[in-house]
Amino acid sequence: MGALDDVAHRASGCEKCRLAKGRTKVVFGAGNPSADLMFVGEAPGFHEDRQGLPFVGAAGALLTNLLGGIELTREQVYIANVLKCRPPGNRDPMPDEVEACSPYLVEQIRLIDPRVICTLGNFATQLLLGRKVGISRVRGQRFDVRGRILVPTFHPAAILRGGRPGAGMAEMEEDFRMLAKLLGEAAPAPPSAPVEDPEQLGLFS
Ligand code: URA
Repeated sequence: MGALDDVAHRASGCEKCRLAKGRTKVVFGAGNPSADLMFVGEAPGFHEDRQGLPFVGAAGALLTNLLGGIELTREQVYIANVLKCRPPGNRDPMPDEVEACSPYLVEQIRLIDPRVICTLGNFATQLLLGRKVGISRVRGQRFDVRGRILVPTFHPAAILRGGRPGAGMAEMEEDFRMLAKLLGEAAPAPPSAPVEDPEQLGLFS
């Protein structure tokens, strides 16, 4: 069993927070375990909880389409969430749930070792960036965080339920084109020493 399977196995029996009680299945993550590009969403919804797979509902269909737009399939990337269990009624994650669950995400990032991480929406962005900042302010920007490139974009579910149909879609497409461009660039040489940036002490610290 690989190291990532090991972590998945541990997560599958996790009872570190209240969400263990209501879940059908733990949604650990799916895709290429050595992907260059990793997506991090918020938490499983109804369909994900039933199937044990991330982004399989309507938001997942949009994510799959956006990937198709840059000629990528779900199998080529890795898709995970901040929380591995569904919050009741799809409510927002609570701070203690994020705290209990984030070690799994840290391990996933360490083992998959993606060059580029795309955070989907506020929760993943704030957690990985280590800053309380609104997604509209930072989407489509490139952040260099401890040897990885982080690109925040909107959460696909926010596009689907947006006030104006399709609002934010053009921006998301633009952000995905940026991801494609970054993946096409040659990987930079690793820095000789870690760069300390007190502004960015998120999951990578
Ligand atoms: N929304 C998320 O954030 N993650 C999923 O897996 C599905 C919907």
